[in-house]
Amino acid sequence: MPINVYNFSAGPATLPKSVIDQITDRLDNFTDGMSIMEISHRSVAFKDFASESESNLRSLLQIDDSYAVLFLQGGATQQFSMVPMNLANQGTVDYLITGAWSKRAANYAKYHCNLNIVADSSDNNFIDVSNPAEWVNSKNAEYFYYCANETIHGLEIHDIPEVNVPVVSDMSSTLCTRPIEIEKYGLIFASAQKNLGIAGLTIVIVKKDLIIDKAKDLPPLLRYDAHYQEKSMLNTSPVFPWYVAGLVFEWILEQGGLDAMSKLNEKKASLLYNYIDNSILYQNDVNPKFRSWVNIPFTMTQDGLEENFLKTASDVGLKNLKGHRTVGGMRASVYNAMPIKAIEELIAFMEDFENVNL
Ligand SMILES: Cc1ncc(COP(=O)(O)O)c(C=O)c1O
Repeated sequence: MPINVYNFSAGPATLPKSVIDQITDRLDNFTDGMSIMEISHRSVAFKDFASESESNLRSLLQIDDSYAVLFLQGGATQQFSMVPMNLANQGTVDYLITGAWSKRAANYAKYHCNLNIVADSSDNNFIDVSNPAEWVNSKNAEYFYYCANETIHGLEIHDIPEVNVPVVSDMSSTLCTRPIEIEKYGLIFASAQKNLGIAGLTIVIVKKDLIIDKAKDLPPLLRYDAHYQEKSMLNTSPVFPWYVAGLVFEWILEQGGLDAMSKLNEKKASLLYNYIDNSILYQNDVNPKFRSWVNIPFTMTQDGLEENFLKTASDVGLKNLKGHRTVGGMRASVYNAMPIKAIEELIAFMEDFENVNL
């Protein structure tokens, strides 16, 4: 095995090394000789941990008491339905389509409300976003939906769209990669397996006045207010993924919080984009204004080299650089836990590969 292995997977993704060490150290004894995998979500030890993890996330993102923070199951995909079911009241909703994930979310919303597509970047293969002046917003939308970072296409919307209805954002691959202005959002959701831990947990941050005493016709497990009333313990909580997320929040705080994450992520992304833009063999077509900090897809200007690139990279410890199966090419996912050294090693490898093959 190579000395250093870097996992560039888009999710489940690299965890901080110290988090894995903490999990390992305490795996067989979280409390009273019992492991974290064996204790009840309602045990005092876990409830204390859970409440600490919520307050750490609140402090990282500066979330005030007008928002509920929920720790749910079902993945981000379940939110594609819960959002329209809870917030749309069968009315009209506005969706901005900038990649595969927002497109899927819009398709799910159709089951519950009247869908208005504000703009759709499919025609240009999701490498750009049209000017907001050209968007066709509806008059009285219940909410405006966008995906802050399209993990597959590597397209990120760096500034929150200016609209005058509640904004809902899928931040699955970008939450906690930088500070955000929480108060500008109605609802944010993110599955954990990219920047926040492992699969099995989905974070929902939602303005309380959008959910309290709403959607009473839905079964409780699908209602945000029911989860809120029960402190995300309406049924058995995903104890282990929640535990991992709590450790990741502590790790981010120790690193200097979201300002530190943001500096690191911007630096990693600019190193890689600069290299790609100045190379002859590699290219990234996304409008630089919308390039993702954490998912960096690239293709090659010469045919027939991809398979060799991916195999050789894997052999030297640069794993999972294959692009999403629907788009092909390569993709480096470089979330919070990916160290800068990994980017330097990736660039050195890409340089060697170019020299040998061009
Ligand atoms: C932006 C985005 N939204 C939604 C999802 C779906 O997440 P899940 O598999 O947790 O349902 C993903 C998964 O990669 C994603 O990247």
